[in-house]
Amino acid sequence: MKLLSGKTALVAGASTGIGRATAKLFASQGANVVVVARREPELLSLVDEITALGGRAGVYVGDVVEENAAREMVEYAVSSFGGLNVAVNNAGMLGSSLPAEEVSLNEWLQVLNTNLTSAFLGAKYQVPAMRKSGGGSIVNVSSFVGYTVALPGMSAYSASKAGMVGLSKALAVECAADGIRVNALLPGGTDTPMGREASSTPEAIEFTKSIHAMKRLAQPEEVANSALYLASELSSFSTGTALLVEGGVSISKT
Ligand SMILES: NC(=O)c1ccc[n+]([C@@H]2O[C@H](COP(=O)([O-])OP(=O)(O)OC[C@H]3O[C@@H](n4cnc5c(N)ncnc54)[C@H](OP(=O)(O)O)[C@@H]3O)[C@@H](O)[C@H]2O)c1
Repeated sequence: MKLLSGKTALVAGASTGIGRATAKLFASQGANVVVVARREPELLSLVDEITALGGRAGVYVGDVVEENAAREMVEYAVSSFGGLNVAVNNAGMLGSSLPAEEVSLNEWLQVLNTNLTSAFLGAKYQVPAMRKSGGGSIVNVSSFVGYTVALPGMSAYSASKAGMVGLSKALAVECAADGIRVNALLPGGTDTPMGREASSTPEAIEFTKSIHAMKRLAQPEEVANSALYLASELSSFSTGTALLVEGGVSISKT
């Protein structure tokens, strides 16, 4: 039995990395998947990969900071597949690695809008659609940064990712009675384009590995497995949680 048979899932930030791996996994578990990002060619190649494996997917090209896009991607899911059951709000950006005193207000707002406000806008339209579909699961992708650890040069990113945990808890209490669960997923260092941007030298990669108890980075597919857990009925009694998938950063002092 596939874990997402007959479900429709929206994955924002699906063109690369964790979102792309999540979309492929969800499709392989029977979901109709709507993949969202700004880069159309990457999304179209993802749909080709999903279709070749016998899955069903549709593309919405847009910017998650736009409220119209948040509304339209849900409308697209409902009109294409008849409802919405799962949403993974995963789009994100790092921002510069400047100390807070040198970060411009524009950059601060761009990072907060991309990483946090996008999930708020997403929920505004995902929740009513899920209510109509009889319930659902929202997975908000946060990070070990801003929760397990703080790292210099990441003030806006950390604030946005800590905010994802608070937003998820608030939505969880608002939506529980409607059968909608909302959880935050907190990956550790993961081998993706963003992970490679954050750790761009061999020394930086070694440092990032070293702060994980497991002394390695995650593959995006490992994080996707945890997104599947939160999205599916496997986590049917979990809401408002912050699920660490961070290779033991929080318990490591070596
Ligand atoms: N890699 C790590 O070590 C790590 C660790 C903890 C948490 N995370 C979080 O995991 C999530 C996925 O990151 P990743 O590592 O997989 O990085 P990634 O490969 O760079 O993916 C980021 C995704 O977000 C999309 N995106 C960014 N801004 C967007 C916007 N304004 N509108 C629509 N889509 C947008 C990108 O697509 P387009 O550019 O095509 O729009 C891309 O699909 C992020 O929220 C990140 O903060 C990553």
